[in-house]
Amino acid sequence: MASAWVLRSQTMDKLVVALDVGSHRVRALVVGVSHGEQPEVLGLGNAPSKGISRSMVVDIEAATRAIERAINQCAEMGQCRISSVTCNLGGSHLATHDSEGAVPVSGDEITPIDVERVYDAARAIVLPPGQTVVKVVPRQFLIDGQAGILVPVGMSGVRLAANVTLVTGSQATARNLKKCLTGAGVECDQLLPSGLAAAAACLSDADKDLGVCLVDIGGGTTDVAVFKEGALRYMAVLPVAGEHLTKDLAVAAHISAPDAERIKCEFGTAYLDPDIDAARMEEPIPVRRVDGTQSADWSRRLVVDYMQPRVREILEMVGEQISASGLGEVLGAGVVLTGGTARLERIAPLAKSILGLPVRLGQIQGLAADAKFLSDPGMAGLAGLALHASTQDSEGGRRQRSRQGEGWSGIGASLKKLFKQF
Ligand SMILES: Nc1ncnc2c1ncn2[C@@H]1O[C@H](COP(=O)(O)OP(=O)(O)OP(=O)(O)O)[C@@H](O)[C@H]1O
Ligand SMILES: [Mg+2]
Repeated sequence: MASAWVLRSQTMDKLVVALDVGSHRVRALVVGVSHGEQPEVLGLGNAPSKGISRSMVVDIEAATRAIERAINQCAEMGQCRISSVTCNLGGSHLATHDSEGAVPVSGDEITPIDVERVYDAARAIVLPPGQTVVKVVPRQFLIDGQAGILVPVGMSGVRLAANVTLVTGSQATARNLKKCLTGAGVECDQLLPSGLAAAAACLSDADKDLGVCLVDIGGGTTDVAVFKEGALRYMAVLPVAGEHLTKDLAVAAHISAPDAERIKCEFGTAYLDPDIDAARMEEPIPVRRVDGTQSADWSRRLVVDYMQPRVREILEMVGEQISASGLGEVLGAGVVLTGGTARLERIAPLAKSILGLPVRLGQIQGLAADAKFLSDPGMAGLAGLALHASTQDSEGGRRQRSRQGEGWSGIGASLKKLFKQF
């Protein structure tokens, strides 16, 4: 352990830990936060996903072990003890609903407590059994009927109202995930829907004002989150993503899933253009079938032929969700792609032609880390969880300890921030 490095972590105001429990990988990230500086990545842990399917826990013991591995690796690299995490919540049980609430203001000025009360009023919608409100995302506040207020605290008025987007999800799914965290020895500071996490890393305020759709194509699920006028307006999670590309290839070629995964990542591309790809198209690809025989006639063209229908299908399903949001015509900032499958060569131009919108790959903003990490769209969710956690003044941030941690103690106001940036 480099002592200069330990000193670096000990100068931080607080450490926050993000945990991205994905269908493909479980990742943990420890970030140091100091006043006036960009949060800085101090450690990363990474384990193959077990017991998670379509972004939901299906085997508590296996998922707990995978989480434990990622956290231990992260703690080792970050030279800290991890006691709590900000974690993603994924799965197609997540949905959004428009709602509003109104309350009388308790004193002369609006306080954070009034804002919490108006959120509680907006949460009070009838949900199917087993569903719960995971997050309240304010769109605008109204004070005595005056609309368009963004930060009501400190303003005068007698009646506070709020228009919000509620993110709802399965109570049992959230509980099962929390059980895994407890089993892995960490508390849960906060659960953040996966799409919002990726958005926190890769979308600017200008994108969200102008209108933007964040599409995180991971291993088991594709998150679609639509923002307009600065706030989340619609979210849906599709139960199809990169794993399906791998499975299609494995079934079609009679090869093992690990071989299909390797061939997809190494030779896969969203499309081939005969005008510029003539040589690449016929490039032979060595393929070993599950029965042990070698196939001699595989080329990149065949790989793409097997993969492309599924890539198109996913993007067309994304297009349907953008239409369902009712905001497809007003997404001035277009579409931002994140998730590991966004690494697939040429997926952005294919998405552009299918969705009829400008499309760019997500680039992580606002975090001090190496360039490879920041430009990897597969890290967006993890980075966004850390960025979100770094803006919250949670107890957890103060509880994480550097391993030589007696000298380190977190600071910060005790009041939990009520205004989320979504
Ligand atoms: N270069 C690449 N080309 C194509 N696909 C890739 C590439 N690199 C990674 N992937 C795919 O990305 C997927 C994993 O993405 P990611 O790490 O975002 O998933 P996850 O967060 O674990 O899962 P989810 O969010 O769906 O629960 C895998 O299916 C993997 O094969
Ligand atoms: Mg993911």
